[in-house]
Amino acid sequence: MTLIKIPTLDKDSLGQKITVSGWVENIRDHGGVIFIDLREGNEILQVVVEPQNKDIFEIAESIRNEFVITVSGEVKERPKGTVNEKMITGEIELNSSELSILSKSKPMPFQLDEYVKVGEETRLKYRYLDLRRSEMQETIKTRSKVSNEIRQFLISNDFIDIETPMMTKATPEGARDFVIPSRVNQGSFYALPQSPQLFKQLLMISGFGKYFQIVRCFRDEDTRKDRQPEFTQVDIESSFTSTEEVMTLGENLIKEIFKKALKIDLKDFPVMSYSESIERFGSDKPDLRNPLELIDVKDIFTESEFKVFSDPAKNRKSRLVALKISNSLSRSQIDDYTKFVGNYGAKGLAYIKVNDENDLKEGLQSPILKFLSEKEIASLSEKLNFSAGDTVFFGAGHKKIVNESMGALREKLGEDLHLIDKDKWAPLWIKDFPVFDEAEDGSLTPSHHPFTRTSGNLETLEKNPAMAIADAYDLVLNGYEIGGGSMRIHNSEEQRKVLSILGISKEEADEKFGFFLEALDYGCPPHGGIAFGLDRLVMLICNKNSIRDVIAFPKTQSAYCLMTDAPSNISDDELKELAIKSTLKPKD
Ligand code: AMO
Ligand code: AMP
Repeated sequence: MTLIKIPTLDKDSLGQKITVSGWVENIRDHGGVIFIDLREGNEILQVVVEPQNKDIFEIAESIRNEFVITVSGEVKERPKGTVNEKMITGEIELNSSELSILSKSKPMPFQLDEYVKVGEETRLKYRYLDLRRSEMQETIKTRSKVSNEIRQFLISNDFIDIETPMMTKATPEGARDFVIPSRVNQGSFYALPQSPQLFKQLLMISGFGKYFQIVRCFRDEDTRKDRQPEFTQVDIESSFTSTEEVMTLGENLIKEIFKKALKIDLKDFPVMSYSESIERFGSDKPDLRNPLELIDVKDIFTESEFKVFSDPAKNRKSRLVALKISNSLSRSQIDDYTKFVGNYGAKGLAYIKVNDENDLKEGLQSPILKFLSEKEIASLSEKLNFSAGDTVFFGAGHKKIVNESMGALREKLGEDLHLIDKDKWAPLWIKDFPVFDEAEDGSLTPSHHPFTRTSGNLETLEKNPAMAIADAYDLVLNGYEIGGGSMRIHNSEEQRKVLSILGISKEEADEKFGFFLEALDYGCPPHGGIAFGLDRLVMLICNKNSIRDVIAFPKTQSAYCLMTDAPSNISDDELKELAIKSTLKPKD
């Protein structure tokens, strides 16, 4: 008997005498004949145990779901009427002559074939069982295939795969670091990399002109459905390159993945400036499948008596936008959306319901109409092209709050009103980011990492930092940021200046990045690159809602591993060796 893998069987295997092994997916006693669905990977073979074969029949009777067994016998045709056309092995079955149990199983904590009813907590606690389900097997295989395609594509484009350290110094990417205490150098800490940013730049200085790595990154930030504390990047960097060259390479890579994994030919990706994206969608990662757009109506209300509108209309740091939908909503739906924007800091959500576009006096319905002049209403109607049945929402206030709240409302309405064509793919490059994000109180924080080159000159950056534009680009797919990169600063003087504009003192710069600043002084080629989020990309390709579904062993929303109970306490002895004392009482 030849040992055969179940996934290799099909009707060409008829008549063969084989041995197979696998998990018992299901076992049924049909009036004296036992049928076992034997699973390996995500393929199933039907095994038949006849009562005449007393020894093995007795063993078969003791088998339960998820036992691991090995069976030998002859591959036969299934009797007419029992063929399952959906399965590759649907026309065959194994008539068993030998059978033994390799490993028993306790009853499953959840049924592997009744996935829908199982809570994610249980799935994550028993992830090794959850991964047996064919849906998870498919996803994890797709992930492997995508990684493999990426590797092949980059290697065939002369990129070299180079590993960079996991135990290292902080790399600023805007999150907190995970730190590792050192036993040998007590009181000192390594940081896990937020990305290999500085190392890939150092490799450019070393003369490896085309680097890539499929690499784990670590960020201590709020976990969400598209964020994990450890995740995987496809990290790329080249010397003597340009923004256009990196974007073309990135675009070709994504097109190649879609062609290989989904047999889809993506068209050329559109490019949009950050400012246009924010203006039209309130977001720098808009889902272009959603047809809704924010319309600026500042010009109509600069002289208005309605302060809620006229104050922001006159203020450079504020926005006043309208968002029109072709649906009439109930009072309670509007109340819910008002609450929703409140979560993003909006102080209210003014609205107008259009019942008759030809009667701007009686045909409109809104609590704010009494504050608006006829002229303002007429201008609004003209700009927004009112039609009966429309509802128009308004967002007024500080730019950041209006963008975040109305951008989120646009997304929510797109989902709730089923305006998004889920069969479409909408890639989009966003370019010309500001170097800084400006908060409501006027304070500045870097929008990318501090190694990004500025498009204009350094003088603009120094004199008017809020207006400076970075030579950076992001790739967005269906509303998710799947990649981001930039051209880099390649001399220490400029790098030091940027760090000081960012409020990092010379001493702090030397302490944190001294090694890197020094390296820039030894002949650094101009360079730039990009990193893609592999988990997010695979999530979209596999049509999943969360990156947890495409990671074999993910963490929960609170960065916890339900299966291993990590993070967990360590013993007092270990703490002592590390010269660490916790200020907290140990967990029970
Ligand atoms: P950035 O911080 O934009 O750039 O990260 C690149 C891409 O990584 C993915 N990503 C994440 N995925 C899952 N969970 C997370 N917590 C998470 N954080 C980021 C996103 C993102 O677009 N060094 C730069 C790249 C460069 O400049 O070349 C960097 O890390 O898809
Ligand atoms: P108020 O004068 O606060 O009672 O608000 C009058 C109307 O304007 C209400 O419908 C509010 O929901 C709306 N509103 C108040 N503040 C804002 C804002 N910042 N943006 C949009 N609408 C607002």
